[in-house]
Amino acid sequence: MKERLEALKAEALLELAQVASQQQLNEMRIKYLGKKGPLTEVLRGMGALSAEERPAIGQVANDVRGAIEAVIESKQAEYQQAETELRLRAETIDVTLPGKPGAIGAMHPLGKVIQQIEDIFIGMGYTVAEGPEVEQDYYNFEALNLPKNHPARDMQDSFYITEDILMRTQTSPVQVRTMEKMKGQGPIRIICPGRVYRRDDDDATHSHMFTQIEGLVIDRNIRMSDLKGTLLQFVQELFGQDTKIRMRPSFFPFTEPSAEVDVTCSMCGGAGCRVCKQTGWLEILGSGMVHPRVLEMAGYDPEEYSGFAFGLGVERVAMLKYDIEDIRHFYTNDLRFLKQFAHI
Ligand code: DAH
Repeated sequence: MKERLEALKAEALLELAQVASQQQLNEMRIKYLGKKGPLTEVLRGMGALSAEERPAIGQVANDVRGAIEAVIESKQAEYQQAETELRLRAETIDVTLPGKPGAIGAMHPLGKVIQQIEDIFIGMGYTVAEGPEVEQDYYNFEALNLPKNHPARDMQDSFYITEDILMRTQTSPVQVRTMEKMKGQGPIRIICPGRVYRRDDDDATHSHMFTQIEGLVIDRNIRMSDLKGTLLQFVQELFGQDTKIRMRPSFFPFTEPSAEVDVTCSMCGGAGCRVCKQTGWLEILGSGMVHPRVLEMAGYDPEEYSGFAFGLGVERVAMLKYDIEDIRHFYTNDLRFLKQFAHI
């Protein structure tokens, strides 16, 4: 029996030495150590041995089993190690490889210019207000001293949705909405950026949709000089400290007196060039002292309160500041155009 066990051991070790895969190793384990394996069979036959023989043979059987197990275990460890190494190698990240930069978007140039203008006015204590783009005729016109059939409505050809609802033609209705909210009490200092719509034929300087920023200041003792000082400070921050302004008498139904405001040409500094058509001046906004009727309709007592207002076209300001020749560039989303303003 002892010889059989030794032969079994030799056979097993020989076969194990030729094992070349995890699967084969599993098969060997079952073959030699399994319940139906030869070792189990030998052990089962131990019952037939005499009491003296049994311990010695038992010892040999255990040794054989131990030897086979040891080889299997060590092979198993080898396979495990190899597998781990393989996995680690597959999962290796080469941190020295150059990364793939993701495409980073940028704000639209109009958004940036709006932000620049907002920053300037916020620095002067203003807050930013908003109003609806689909507006009531009352707020867009009537409450701004433009009754139905008033000829000045022709200044702004409108897209009507119903008889009383239209796409706002200006951001001025936000003035009225803000004053109404205040119920005739207390000071106001707001700017309101937003889109406006007019029935214009699109060309290099006109668009049926564009962006305005409205400004409104209401308080006791607000004078024309406050308007002038505010606008001078604003244009100097936006276009440079050397910028000057010029106010020309004008007409808007919601302001009295009204003024159009020019700035010295940012291209030539006032000497005269293509951009300012040799005049040295560029018109950038409309403004004036809020008409007493507008104050009254919105609930403010014109005997107690006065105010100024202004409205500017953001596209026009951006075009002047960055020498852009066609307003349509802002809306056609050509990346070659937009990318030039990623860092302004
Ligand atoms: N709403 C005017 C326009 O679209 C611009 C304007 C002029 C606004 C004078 C004002 C203002 O607030 O006082 O042409």
